Amino acid sequence: MQHPHLFLFLFVPLLLPGIWADPEAESQVLQLLQTNLFTNISSAEVSMVAFLGDLPIFALDPAYWSIHFHWPWARQATDEGDAKTIMSHYKIFLRNMVRYVHEIAQRAQLDYPLVVQIHAGCVLHPNRTSWGFMHVGEGGRDLISFDMERQRWELQQQSSLAELVTKTLTSKKAITGILEHLLSISCQSHILNLCKYGRAELERQELPVATVFARTPSPAQLLLVCRVTGFYPRPISVAWLRDGQEVPPGPALNTSTILPNADLTYQLRSILAAAPHDGHSYTCRVRHRSLGTRSLLIPWEDHSTAPTIGIAITVLFLVATASAGGFWWWKQRKGDEAT
Ligand SMILES: *[C@@H]1O[C@H](CO)[C@@H](O)[C@H](O)[C@H]1NC(C)=O
Ligand SMILES: *[C@@H]1O[C@H](CO)[C@@H](O)[C@H](O)[C@H]1NC(C)=O
Ligand SMILES: *[C@@H]1O[C@H](CO)[C@@H](O)[C@H](O)[C@H]1NC(C)=O
Repeated sequence: MQHPHLFLFLFVPLLLPGIWADPEAESQVLQLLQTNLFTNISSAEVSMVAFLGDLPIFALDPAYWSIHFHWPWARQATDEGDAKTIMSHYKIFLRNMVRYVHEIAQRAQLDYPLVVQIHAGCVLHPNRTSWGFMHVGEGGRDLISFDMERQRWELQQQSSLAELVTKTLTSKKAITGILEHLLSISCQSHILNLCKYGRAELERQELPVATVFARTPSPAQLLLVCRVTGFYPRPISVAWLRDGQEVPPGPALNTSTILPNADLTYQLRSILAAAPHDGHSYTCRVRHRSLGTRSLLIPWEDHSTAPTIGIAITVLFLVATASAGGFWWWKQRKGDEAT
């Protein structure tokens, strides 16, 4: 069985470019990803992770339904305000949700196993406005969403299941009210608390490490590779300079997407196609927040020139030796003939 939440865990950072620390300057996203697997009418496996930007904040232990915080400060921040109340009630929410899904499964005569995913949270903008969101999916497809503005559930697919779920949830007026509060006020204040307690972690900066090397898929082709890794936060600029001029985007330039490393840093590579020995100089330039106003410049050193000269000298030397040897042999023979 695949773990969809693991999949989401890996890809969430990719979906949220440029979201990082300073609440004064950047938008912040707090989101919760929950995956529920219902194998049969009497079982439910719940897993859940919460992120602030690309930082995991807490996760649910699927065995005991207990919350594990990734950082001591995340626990501290969650001990304040609405979050404390919510945390003391989330097991009740989970139990109700499990019961509701089984009830719907029976009414809609769904076949087990069922996978229900919930993606909920809020975005807090630098101007202190925020908007909440909640999406529910079933079997890997969008089912319904909560529209914060109109305070109502919206179908995300045309099916009797989506209609049934929307109808039953709409009839539970209390849920709408609670959700509205959770996704706006509680979520927003939780972001501010997390930013307050987790400032050091959220403002963490890791320097990029860059290496330049070449690949020669064919004798007429030279691919210059600039590999940059170990940096944090995610936004970065990597460019190739040809004779000091930035190479514009085009078919010769191929820059990968930014991929996460296991240690909460990122990596990417930029590949430039060039002709071997074209007489140009090439340099990879990296700019990143951790470097301040400086740039990292890594020149491409064409090591292939040195061996070429070396071989040329060796060949010349061999030719010279052979000629001398030939001359000596010829003289010897002449001498022999003479005697
Ligand atoms: C339901 O699924 C759980 C977990 O997959 C399993 O342990 C249990 O035996 C199943 N129960 C029935 C009645 O099939
Ligand atoms: C606040 O900022 C967001 C994102 O920049 C923008 O969409 C929104 O309209 C702003 N709201 C107000 C009231 O200025
Ligand atoms: C860029 O690199 C990717 C992955 O290596 C490759 O699939 C793609 O064809 C490349 N694009 C160009 C224009 O070279």
